[in-house]
Amino acid sequence: MSADDACNQIVDTIFKVLIDGSKRDYIGERISQLEHCLQAAAQALDSGADEETILAALLHDIGQFTTSPDQKQMICDASALNDLDPGAVDGAKQISVGVTGHERIGAVYLRQLGFSEKVAALVESHVPVKRYLTAKYPDYYDGLSGASKLSLKYQGGPYTQEQVELFEKDPLYAIKVQIRQWDDAAKVVDLKVPDLEYYRPIAIRHLLEQKGRVTV
Ligand SMILES: [Fe+2]
Repeated sequence: MSADDACNQIVDTIFKVLIDGSKRDYIGERISQLEHCLQAAAQALDSGADEETILAALLHDIGQFTTSPDQKQMICDASALNDLDPGAVDGAKQISVGVTGHERIGAVYLRQLGFSEKVAALVESHVPVKRYLTAKYPDYYDGLSGASKLSLKYQGGPYTQEQVELFEKDPLYAIKVQIRQWDDAAKVVDLKVPDLEYYRPIAIRHLLEQKGRVTV
């Protein structure tokens, strides 16, 4: 199999994971998970970000979908979410607000498939950045969706001052915060953005670069 074919197969696999995962409800939000990922990627694209950052934005939640049914869901009382975000959930008594550790699951999965360490690190950081921002900027918490406020509790809550200072020394600190901001804004109903196939050549080029088959 050629390197091109192998990379195409990897991209087929991750796109299928995103499409199949999107068939599950994005509980607590009013758009699908796939729309959310595409909107995050579109913001990266519009900002002129590099291709690794664009891919990280597109794939930041992939760990939500690569999980088996027994993986630990963050379950909470749906009425608590309705208090925070009226109309977000109808009927259900208990809901999941995500998969515990999905950022780490996603990063491991992407490394295994051949994505770069930068892509994996950016994916891995999008939950810790929420912990950073809620510690650093109290107003940030108020702007989170109901589901995101609830999942923060399961993710360890806001950082301590020591953790805040440590995070600000990370060389990827600024771009990690940027991805989180795109993530937060990627919840617009009926927004028109490029579809998944738009990102295929970017992902293939990236995977080929990682294999050392092309020069950049
Ligand atoms: Fe997200």
